[in-house]
Amino acid sequence: MQIAAAPAHLAQPRHLATPPAPNAVRAAHHPGLARAGALSAAGVFFSALSRRRKLAARRAEGEQVVTPWEVEAGEDGVDYDKLIETFGCQPITSEQIERIERLTGKRPHRFLRRGLFFSHRDLDELLNAYEKGEAFYIYTGRGPSSESLHLGHLVPFLFTKWLQEAFDVPLVIELTDDEKFLFKKDLTIEESRRLAWENAKDIIACGFDPKKTFIFRDSDYIQQLYPVTLQIQKRISLRTAQNTFGFDPADNIGKVAFAAVQASPAFSIAFPDFLEPGRRCFVPQAIDQDPYFRLCRRVAEDLKWPKPACIHSKFLPALQGHQTKMSASVASTALYMTDTEKKLRKKINKHAFSGGGKTEEEQREHGANLDVDVSYQYLKIWLEDDEELERIGEDYAAGKLLTGEVKKRLGDVVSEIVREHQEARARIEDATVERFMDPAREELRSSFAKKLATEAA
Ligand code: TYM
Repeated sequence: MQIAAAPAHLAQPRHLATPPAPNAVRAAHHPGLARAGALSAAGVFFSALSRRRKLAARRAEGEQVVTPWEVEAGEDGVDYDKLIETFGCQPITSEQIERIERLTGKRPHRFLRRGLFFSHRDLDELLNAYEKGEAFYIYTGRGPSSESLHLGHLVPFLFTKWLQEAFDVPLVIELTDDEKFLFKKDLTIEESRRLAWENAKDIIACGFDPKKTFIFRDSDYIQQLYPVTLQIQKRISLRTAQNTFGFDPADNIGKVAFAAVQASPAFSIAFPDFLEPGRRCFVPQAIDQDPYFRLCRRVAEDLKWPKPACIHSKFLPALQGHQTKMSASVASTALYMTDTEKKLRKKINKHAFSGGGKTEEEQREHGANLDVDVSYQYLKIWLEDDEELERIGEDYAAGKLLTGEVKKRLGDVVSEIVREHQEARARIEDATVERFMDPAREELRSSFAKKLATEAA
């Protein structure tokens, strides 16, 4: 790791060199605790079907599977209305979008205007409080599973940037290097930390304001998170974790406990350096992360802490179609932010699922099915110009445009986004990452202190 000169809060944790048993592990090794844990765990573990068998059964029944680790739907793609129903969240209404516009004085981001962000929890409560002058903070995150982000990851981060600017609020970004270490068999802690560092550069390249943004790797910041994490862990039973995430009996116990780590930053007491206790939290995410926050909100109720509000996006689909999401760990589904223009165009031409006719004649005669056409769906997300999008949609559906032409336009749009991102990322140095990762920065404290003072006045 090349951060030899990193400040104390970023230095390689000592336990990576010589591992003394961390507190949590020591507690778990206490004979009494171990016995109690084993007894209460046994029922849950042995009565549970393995995660793989459960998922296979759901698939066989034609049910869609959406978890933080897997997205698999039928021919027609993910049924988002059904997800809202099964997860128990609420659809975003046009009134809410107008209200956001009124409150911020900013034209809503195209991700909101075009329904990519489609669902929420407690958005009205958050906006009511904001309207009365109560500021919130934003929390989002990334699990560093790969060297590069893909285009889908940009969805929550670009939207978060817009939210941060529109509402002028602090932002914290969690990099779950611990999660990826626990969930990926061959990943070492050192590599997971390195990936988190590299991913931080991609995230910073989205344009976040350093004066209002704190980025942290869990393995660096866990000491501050831990008191909050403990409160949460104590309130999540093994049964609840099992029911929420469907763990396999053979899974390591770190995976089970991790849920509390991802929930912790949703409480402002985890950031005593620059946030006051009790500040409301708002969490932008794709809908796959919702199970963590369902659990988190239940615990918040128990603890009488403010429940985080959430806003969920749909997935940028895999190139191959709507049955799954673009995923960093399945290379063929993804357009990476490190891809060259040639590679991006090649992948789009070769893999992007077409809703157009099989031949030119068929396309001219019947037109394209826009709902399943991946290139059009990507344009809907990435093409800013509303009029051009409408024109492409009408012409493509009517057979006046061919799939190749739509793919060509998508290639232009995506290449431009990726090129700009690569240029911005190339300018980010280790020192910039260190700055974003320092929670005790004066600039962080003072920019919020000023805001608090203005709010109080
Ligand atoms: P991760 O790294 O899998 O994904 C990071 C963020 O990107 C979203 N996402 C997508 N959005 C649209 N289309 C896609 N194809 C797509 N794939 C991923 C994810 O929903 C996520 O918002 N455990 C988390 C990291 C995390 C986090 C959080 C995320 C920690 N705290 C708080 C959101 C909010 C993870 O592994 O995300």
